[in-house]
Amino acid sequence: MFEKDLLQDQVIVVTGGGSGLGRSMAERFASLGARLVLCSRRLEVVERAAEEIEASTGSEVLGLSCDVRELDQVEGVVTRAVERFGRVTGLVNNAAGNFLAQTETLSSNAFKTVVDIVLNGTFHATLACGRQMIEQGGGTVLSIATTYAWTGSAFVVPSACAKAGVVAMTRSLAVEWARYGVRCNAIAPGPFPTEGAFSRLMPPGVEEAALRKIPLRRFGDHEELANLASYLMSPGSGYVNGEIVTIDGGEWLNGGEFNHFTSLPDEQIDGMFEQLRAATRRR
Ligand code: HXC
Repeated sequence: MFEKDLLQDQVIVVTGGGSGLGRSMAERFASLGARLVLCSRRLEVVERAAEEIEASTGSEVLGLSCDVRELDQVEGVVTRAVERFGRVTGLVNNAAGNFLAQTETLSSNAFKTVVDIVLNGTFHATLACGRQMIEQGGGTVLSIATTYAWTGSAFVVPSACAKAGVVAMTRSLAVEWARYGVRCNAIAPGPFPTEGAFSRLMPPGVEEAALRKIPLRRFGDHEELANLASYLMSPGSGYVNGEIVTIDGGEWLNGGEFNHFTSLPDEQIDGMFEQLRAATRRR
């Protein structure tokens, strides 16, 4: 679909790049010639991903530990990226945190935790990489949003609020930083199977119903998301700025993400969410 060296001159930071969609996007960028800096809270995961991507693509990949909730840690990543590769031309804000819960049961810390990762984390990475891009004369910021950032969704209120902030940040900076040659866009993916998201957001036994809500009747393929991200990171999309591109098989037009659970009895909702929480705790 793309020229082999499409991203050859690029140095791209991917937050949460050690697993899931972050890793799939990273792998595709590297196969198109980009050099990468992957960061994650789990150093061993991100180091393994970096080694494997280097081996399969021949591109240089640096894996670093970083909690995006801490600005100084993200600044440290940018310093290491510049030491190693001389610049940062792209950032993918992929790191996220989420879980299903009845909102009235949430603690203040539960809300804060998700907002800290998703909204503050995206701001920290955008600020640290953006400053570097402004100094260099340009770059591209791509954030992973979600369709419920504008529709809202039952049972994921912290994530919906945080992702809405990410969309607002994307559109605001698209205008503010265009004069520095920094483009800001976002992708709103529907359900793409990953261990991290599905273990938290897909209660056992509801997969069939989830598929039926998607007009295309299937989940997304990682390759499809990676292709869209590669296009948005490439010079070929140079006039796309401030855009949120949806890739969800038409799902959001057909009723949204988790609202349908409201039709279930309360005990069943509680049971499903508790099962997910217990399963992710065991990991
Ligand atoms: C209610 C919960 C909870 C749950 C945690 N909390 N899980 N409350 N239901 N299922 C509460 C805790 O009780 C605690 O509050 C507070 O949240 C912080 O929890 P910790 O476990 O201490 O936080 P931490 O270890 O930092 O973990 C953060 C996390 C976790 C978000 C809770 O799930 C995580 O690390 N996630 C990262 C990966 C991830 O979520 N990937 C999926 C992203 S998918 P108290 O008051 O007890 O201290 C995504 C897709 C969106 O975003 C689009 C979909 C289509």
